[in-house]
Amino acid sequence: MPLTDETVVAVVGAGAMGVGIAQVAAQAGHEVHLVDAAEGAAAAAREKLAATLTRLVDKGKLTSDESAGILERVIIGPAADGDLRELPPVGLVIEAVVEKLAVKHEIFGTLDDEQDESTVLATNTSSLDIGAIAADLAHPERVIGLHFFNPPPLMKLVEVVRTTQSAPEILRDAQALMESWGKTPVLCTSTPGFIVNRVARPFYGESQRLLEAEVADAATLDFALRELGGFRMGPFELTDLIGQDVNFAVGNSVWHQTDRDPRYEPVAVQRELVEAGRLGRKTGHGYFEYAEGGQPVGVTPDEGRARELVGGPIETDPVARTIAMLVNEGVDLVRRGEATAEDVDTAMKLGTNYPKGPHEWLAEIGAATIVEQLRALDAAFPGGRYRVSPALEEQV
Ligand SMILES: NC(=O)c1ccc[n+]([C@@H]2O[C@H](COP(=O)([O-])OP(=O)(O)OC[C@H]3O[C@@H](n4cnc5c(N)ncnc54)[C@H](O)[C@@H]3O)[C@@H](O)[C@H]2O)c1
Repeated sequence: MPLTDETVVAVVGAGAMGVGIAQVAAQAGHEVHLVDAAEGAAAAAREKLAATLTRLVDKGKLTSDESAGILERVIIGPAADGDLRELPPVGLVIEAVVEKLAVKHEIFGTLDDEQDESTVLATNTSSLDIGAIAADLAHPERVIGLHFFNPPPLMKLVEVVRTTQSAPEILRDAQALMESWGKTPVLCTSTPGFIVNRVARPFYGESQRLLEAEVADAATLDFALRELGGFRMGPFELTDLIGQDVNFAVGNSVWHQTDRDPRYEPVAVQRELVEAGRLGRKTGHGYFEYAEGGQPVGVTPDEGRARELVGGPIETDPVARTIAMLVNEGVDLVRRGEATAEDVDTAMKLGTNYPKGPHEWLAEIGAATIVEQLRALDAAFPGGRYRVSPALEEQV
């Protein structure tokens, strides 16, 4: 059964992501069954959604009729408290439960047994191998990733992820459906970190290494990336916002899943912050200290130092070093056949708000310069982190 505007959807897991995804689907006109294993959690999430919709009506973003229609389409049915055998037949399930392979695998096993073989089974996992979630199912061809970004109603990007077994027509349908939900889908394989969480690693790692080498402090490096590099936020203020534990876990997961590729090796400064419980804004301190209301205190960048570093030698230029590595990651992903260049650029601009995509930077800066910069970094810091992607070497 192809995915259409009429497709009935189930969202399993009514946490931060699940409730947002349910809102998006219901807003696009779908009937949505909301499910969560914690008793009463799905119903409570629907109440939370009602409050969100009321706020949107107050702000004039929705009419009260639209709001009522959305809420009416979010159904707390017999499966709401987690028993998926009670779920009526649906055309699409989007799973957004805790990030644990065993839990997801069991859910997909039940859905594979209980739902018609044409029902598309999607996971919102950020870091698990979707092939492993689909392993041993009778119909693994209907399993895909639909990786939404937080918060789903506001973030346009959805990574549509294929395993080696996903059916091409299901992937095509899923992309069309995401477009009809007002999203911008990009297609990629189930490679560690998919596109965004993979290509973004050096944005954090390069500055962390510069901090560790005492080239500049966190505020100065943030200033360089933000004010001189054109990024929306610096890596330290951004990871303080995301949570150092969350950002560290993503990096660590990519590192482990790539057999500890030195490109993704976590940096001690961040590990130490996590171990010390300095997780960022949510704990009141991370790289920076935060006042009660969440505003950072005492952040004073050394602007002169930042301007001296940017445009200087590549080893200590936070902007050029970061961009060279983002380009290297982006082209390497394309070389391995994980995604197209266009999708990589779209994903990075929409998923992380980067001012440009890696291939746009490449076109602007030129492969010869990027290769020269990476070779200089490799000479200064040997060990494989700065190895040049063959995709760049071929261009010089
Ligand atoms: N938070 C993010 O920024 C983000 C972004 C993209 C993807 N994701 C992914 O989305 C998924 C959910 O993340 P979240 O942040 O919404 O988590 P969350 O902790 O807010 O919610 C998870 C929910 O799943 C429920 N749950 C646990 N086991 C269940 C089961 N067996 N059946 C049904 N419900 C079950 C929990 O009760 C909880 O309500 C994870 O796979 C995560 O990696 C998260």
